[in-house]
Amino acid sequence: MHRTRDSRSRSKSKSISRRFCSRNVMIFSLIFLAILPPIFFHFRLRRFNQIQLRRCGWIHNPPLVCAHGGDSSVAFPNTIAAYHSALDSRVDCIEIDVSRSSDGVLFALHDRDLQRLSGNTSSRVGHMSSKQIRELSASHQSTEKINDESIATIQDALMLAASSVRQIILDVKVGPPLYEKGLAKDVLSIVSIMIVSLSHCMLHVDMASSSCRS
Ligand SMILES: *[C@@H]1O[C@H](CO)[C@@H](O)[C@H](O)[C@H]1NC(C)=O
Repeated sequence: MHRTRDSRSRSKSKSISRRFCSRNVMIFSLIFLAILPPIFFHFRLRRFNQIQLRRCGWIHNPPLVCAHGGDSSVAFPNTIAAYHSALDSRVDCIEIDVSRSSDGVLFALHDRDLQRLSGNTSSRVGHMSSKQIRELSASHQSTEKINDESIATIQDALMLAASSVRQIILDVKVGPPLYEKGLAKDVLSIVSIMIVSLSHCMLHVDMASSSCRS
């Protein structure tokens, strides 16, 4: 008798615990079902945003508008007038072609610009001395900045552009007779002198061969 009452009470408590257990399972299942969709959509949305960012991320960092040799629609490229016109149009960036004279002076000049200015299709910057280039430049000089087709040294060109643009690219031309010899050192020494006073500007030096038409 004693034993039966004991076993009955045990089975009763077992059934209570089973009911309690199944209620817990149900509650947890409901919670799980309730939080599953938000979690699912959170990750879907995150994935969508990541894909969107990969595709359109450049919008937050848009490309710079770069005037190669200044604005060549109004003057010969790489002349003072071309630089002034580009700066007046508020471009983001100016690309300056750099060529070296036979006596090692760096001018903001491309062989083809020199040829157009001199009217001689076979002349090259590297075959002319800085004196000859300055004489040629003087013949195209004007007091009006819109007509001033004089040739600038890279110091002059950097000074002119530095405070008006977000980026300056020096497109260094390797040409005869000196070719690469000491060219990078020459350019970098001028850049490092300039950078002290132009520390707010970025300079990107790009060595290109003179045969590369860019
Ligand atoms: C053109 O340039 C070349 C190379 O510098 C030179 O030899 C030639 O005499 C020049 N021609 C004229 C007409 O100046």
